[in-house]
Amino acid sequence: MKQKMLEYFKKAFEDTKGAEVFFAPGRVNLIGEHTDYNGGHVFPCALTIGTYGAVRKRTDRKLRFYSENFSYLGVLESDLDSLTPTKEAGWTNYPKGVMWAFDGRGMKMDCGLDLAIFGNIPNGSGLSSSASLEVLTGAILRALYGFDVSNQDLALIGQYSERNFNGVNCGIMDQFAIAMGKKDHAIFLDTATLEYEYAPIQLEGAQIVIACSNKKRGLADSKYNERRSECEEALKELQTVCDIQSLGELTEEAFEAHKDAIQDPVRVRRARHAVYENQRTVKAVEALKKNEITTFGKLMNESHVSLRDDYEVTGIELDTLVEEAWKQEGVIGSRMTGAGFGGCTVSIVKDEAIPAFRENGGKAYKEKIGYAADFYVVSIGDGPQKL
Ligand code: GLA
Repeated sequence: MKQKMLEYFKKAFEDTKGAEVFFAPGRVNLIGEHTDYNGGHVFPCALTIGTYGAVRKRTDRKLRFYSENFSYLGVLESDLDSLTPTKEAGWTNYPKGVMWAFDGRGMKMDCGLDLAIFGNIPNGSGLSSSASLEVLTGAILRALYGFDVSNQDLALIGQYSERNFNGVNCGIMDQFAIAMGKKDHAIFLDTATLEYEYAPIQLEGAQIVIACSNKKRGLADSKYNERRSECEEALKELQTVCDIQSLGELTEEAFEAHKDAIQDPVRVRRARHAVYENQRTVKAVEALKKNEITTFGKLMNESHVSLRDDYEVTGIELDTLVEEAWKQEGVIGSRMTGAGFGGCTVSIVKDEAIPAFRENGGKAYKEKIGYAADFYVVSIGDGPQKL
């Protein structure tokens, strides 16, 4: 891959003298969806697919960007004195946002750079191609300019730039999962405190399979920010009757006892999802620790039902993929993953059942939706690294 990246770099910027290559993974969330901005738990892992960047410092203040995924856009130019988001800047708003966030924290780049990237995360799939690019940029700036930041800082800076430069009011899960990724482990993260624990994922005789709906999903255009405000509203209403800082502090029982404080039935459902999903995530990790993988799978299924009925972020594409998966032999659990509104599902499938899972699920999906889904067996990988 390193060689290929240097070729892309050369194609865009003529020669590769002094160019270095970096990688940051994508992520998949196993359980704990739409809990990270509600002070709850999440359980994501970094993948071995992700975003590669070949980069070299310049002697002036120019920034030049090239993406092999958007090669038709050619080289997009900017400079360190115009770090503001623009529509024309397209994908480069992500690396520029991270540079802007570093700058805001007093980490000034003393010269510009040339950056060529390539990502093998399916675009718009909900596997966090944008967070991957943000963490990649952070790792590059740290290495090239010698900034003193930890991987956790890279996650926080990435999230800050996504929210304040790119206008998506996201939680910390994606950037954290990517920056802190560890091979063969998922990360059990308490988003209220950022305390975390690595849990080994040893699925004896089974694999993580991702099914991509190929329904494109734009986070910023979606109902993501709306869901977030619905939860904030519900929290305010609950705060009139109980002493909490976030929905993640409530047990199921406490929620049931106080839910009448929420004035609107839609908001009751949104908050119910946030509370129950958080508790499910804690239970799922406990089950996994005891090697009770069937229980883990059942909780994944319940997570999907809650995201479908209470949180309403699934849609016919993701529901079809998941409901077909549930019908298949050897499927331990299946649910949508990420923000929803299109994107991917994640399933745990027994090795011997994977071919039929792809074939039957793929066929049913195409018949119902009219276009094909893509299936990937994925592996859990490490966080950002230099190649
Ligand atoms: C997106 C956001 C995350 C998280 C998920 C839903 O991926 O970036 O912060 O909220 O949606 O769980």
